[in-house]
Amino acid sequence: MEVTNKYVAIKANIDGAPQESDFELKNGSFSLLVKPGSKDVIIKNLYVSIDPYQINRMKIASDSQTTSVFATMIDPGKVIDAYGVGIVIASGNPEFEKDDYVVGLLSWGEYCVYNGPYLNKLDAMGLPLSYYVGALGLSGLTAYAGFFEICKPKKGEKVFVSAASGSVGNLVGQYAKQFGCYVVGCAGSPKKVKLLKEKLGFDEVFNYKEEPDLNLALKRYFPDGIDIYFDNVGAEMLEAAILNMNLHGRIAVCGVISEYTDNGKRAIPDMLSVIYKRITIRGFLAGDHMGMFPEFFSTTIDHLNTGKMQVLEDVSFGLEGVPSAFVGLFRGDNVGKRIVQVSND
Ligand SMILES: NC(=O)c1ccc[n+]([C@@H]2O[C@H](COP(=O)([O-])OP(=O)(O)OC[C@H]3O[C@@H](n4cnc5c(N)ncnc54)[C@H](OP(=O)(O)O)[C@@H]3O)[C@@H](O)[C@H]2O)c1
Repeated sequence: MEVTNKYVAIKANIDGAPQESDFELKNGSFSLLVKPGSKDVIIKNLYVSIDPYQINRMKIASDSQTTSVFATMIDPGKVIDAYGVGIVIASGNPEFEKDDYVVGLLSWGEYCVYNGPYLNKLDAMGLPLSYYVGALGLSGLTAYAGFFEICKPKKGEKVFVSAASGSVGNLVGQYAKQFGCYVVGCAGSPKKVKLLKEKLGFDEVFNYKEEPDLNLALKRYFPDGIDIYFDNVGAEMLEAAILNMNLHGRIAVCGVISEYTDNGKRAIPDMLSVIYKRITIRGFLAGDHMGMFPEFFSTTIDHLNTGKMQVLEDVSFGLEGVPSAFVGLFRGDNVGKRIVQVSND
């Protein structure tokens, strides 16, 4: 049976800050039947993830496009693959049956067909399906692996996290608090600052947009220096953090969102500080740490069930809202994991 599949596409490659007008809603014909002999899984998308890295896939060229299978270039007019949760409509793969919930690489569309390795059956265990897009999905793994594996924390250490109210950042802060660290975050609005301090238990939070000198701001919040910096933004914040790092400090470079939409913007770190303070700066991709998934998952479920951690998510309804949800990431519109619910469960 053929249906119309609505999906979001870019009109042309994007250079600079994305605008809603860079996107269009397209209609494609889509078969709900499995091709005979194929292992295709036909999926109705329910919740799709809205992630900053997609902007690097939309550029005419970016180093990132050739270094990870998840970051390949997006062609104008074509379906955009994206992480999400869906429900199986039909399957030629014996591992999946009709009505199974699945999580993995879906699309910014109503339906998708999948026959690759990045799809898993999902038992939601009574929790909202959206949690599996964010806190119990790749954002959660990014925060967990980045903090525990890359930063190698010790109890009592002083941790700084940027974009702290975002999907990854809020979880890093919560893991670090649970582990027994002193945690300072920065975020881009008074509302975010209040929420992180009052609801998520950060020790201190500041609004970086109100700080004329980031180096001095960090000196104020870390009079004894920073042991761990979890970087989500890059550029000036990374430069200031390096100046405030302690001996043998660790920096996990998770993302550099402030550089994604501004080709001229780059961190110019004080490399003498890096050398003499023996700072480790390490980039990482969550996909390289899938082996930690079981540990991450059981720890996080436990923290959620005991109320030690909270889920911060920002869910809107309707596929047509994907462009504005995406564009808003670069203006700081989101609080927590940005997700679009495409269809009812
Ligand atoms: N390495 C990996 O495997 C991996 C996986 C997932 C995500 N990431 C990266 O991690 C970072 C966070 O991702 P996320 O999904 O959690 O997104 P997010 O933090 O939920 O959303 C983006 C946030 O970044 C902040 N921001 C936007 N433009 C900024 C700018 N010019 N300067 C400073 N802050 C800015 C905004 O918050 P404010 O209001 O605070 O400005 C915005 O809410 C991104 O850089 C992303 O690419 C990496």
